[in-house]
Amino acid sequence: MGAERVLPRKVLLGVTGGIAAYKTPVLVRALVKAGAEVQVVMTAAAHDFVSPLVLSTLSKRPVLTEMVDRAPGTATWNDHVHLARWADLILIAPATANTLAKMAHGLCDDLLLACWLSAECPVYVAPAMDLEMYRNAVTRRNIELLKGRGVTMIGPDEGELASGLVGEGRMTEPEAITGQLIDAVMGRSNLAGVKMLITAGPTHEAIDPVRFIGNRSSGKMGFALAEEAAARGAEVELITGPVELTTNHSGIRRTDVTSAAEMAVAAKERFPDTAVAILSAAVADWRPAQVSDTKMKKQDRLSALELEPTEDILAWMGGEKKGQLLVGFALETANELRNAEGKLVKKNLDLIVLNSLNDPGAGFGYDTNKVTLIDTDKNATELPLLSKADVAIAILDRVEKLLTHAK
Ligand code: CTP
Repeated sequence: MGAERVLPRKVLLGVTGGIAAYKTPVLVRALVKAGAEVQVVMTAAAHDFVSPLVLSTLSKRPVLTEMVDRAPGTATWNDHVHLARWADLILIAPATANTLAKMAHGLCDDLLLACWLSAECPVYVAPAMDLEMYRNAVTRRNIELLKGRGVTMIGPDEGELASGLVGEGRMTEPEAITGQLIDAVMGRSNLAGVKMLITAGPTHEAIDPVRFIGNRSSGKMGFALAEEAAARGAEVELITGPVELTTNHSGIRRTDVTSAAEMAVAAKERFPDTAVAILSAAVADWRPAQVSDTKMKKQDRLSALELEPTEDILAWMGGEKKGQLLVGFALETANELRNAEGKLVKKNLDLIVLNSLNDPGAGFGYDTNKVTLIDTDKNATELPLLSKADVAIAILDRVEKLLTHAK
C-alpha cells in the first residue's frame, strides 16, 4: 500500500547564496528518491553555503555554475538554452532576495538566470531570507511580478531564522518542497483547498498543579495525517495535545491544548467551518472531578480519585454534522471489528480507522502502525504494517474517494 508518489521528471535545481542552501543536499536526495533526474546549477555565492562536491555526488551529475568552464587550454560552454530545454521543471531553492529581484527584472548575469530566462517549463521558487528582507515592499513587489509571470512560490514558512529572529522567511523544508512538486506535477488532489480538522496526541487531565492523568499517545499518527493532507493542498487545522513533535508545512495551523475540555472547545469552534474532520487524538475519557489548586501532600492520604467523564468530541461532531466527512479512530483490544463498527454507527461516522494494540509494531509511540479501515457499508480493508506516513497516505486516499462519491 502507500501508493508510491513519484516525480518522473528532469529537474533543474537552482541553488542561490543563502544560508538555507545548507539544506539542499537533503532536497537533492528527496527529489532523487522521488524519481527525478536532478541537474544542479549553483550561483557563485551559493558555494559559500554548500559544497558542490556534495551536490554533484548526490545528483550524480557535475554541478554547473559558470557560463563557461575554463580549464588550462580548454573552455567548455554550458549551454543555458540546452539546459532549459532539458528540464521538465525548474526549482530554485533557496531563492535569495537578490535572485528574485534579478529574475523579476530580467537580469541575466549568471548561468542560472540565463537558464530561467530561456525556460519554457514550469518554474517553482522557494524563497529564503530574513524577515525584514522578505517584508520589504521591493521584495514583495518582485514576488508579485514573478507570480504574475507564472512562477509558483513554495513558502516561505514561518519559524526561527538564521538571524535569530522569528517570522516568515524560512525556506520550506526539503520534503515539503518535494511533496508540493509531486502534487503539482501529478495533478491536483481533491483535497486541495479543502478545510480539514485533525486532532492528535494525548490529553492531560490535571489532578493538581503538578500531576495529571494521561496516556502514551505520541501524536505521530495525527501529525503524519496533517503533513500528508497539507502536502495534498488541504488547509489543515491541527489541534494537538501535549506532544514532542514539530510541523513544517505552511498549510498546517497548529493549536496546542492540554486537556480534553480545551481540545473540545478548540475543535467545536472550528467544526462548522470544516469539510473533513479526522479525530486521531487519544482523548481521555475521564478526568478528576476535583482539581486541587495546590500540590497535594502525602499526608492528605488520598485513597481514591473521583473521576467524571469528559465530553466525547467525536460523538458531538457526529450529532452536529451537516455534510462534513467524519473520520474517527478506534483503539481496541478485544472484539475489534465488532466494536469499531459499533462506534462507526453510534458516532455517525463516514469512516473508522481501527487500531489494534495486539499487533507488534503498531500503536502508541511506534513509527509504524497497522490499521483496518471500515466504512458505512461495513467494508473492512485491513492494511499491512506500514510507516505512519504510509498509513496517512492510505487514509487520505480513502477520504479522497469518499469525497468524490459524495459529490
Ligand atoms: N474521542 C473524542 N473525544 C473523547 C473520546 C474519544 O473525540 N472524549 C474520539 C477519539 O479521537 C477517537 C474515537 O473517539 O477518534 C474513539 O475513541 P475510543 O476511546 O477508542 O472510543 P470510546 O468511544 O471512547 O469508547 P471506549 O473507550 O469505550 O472504547
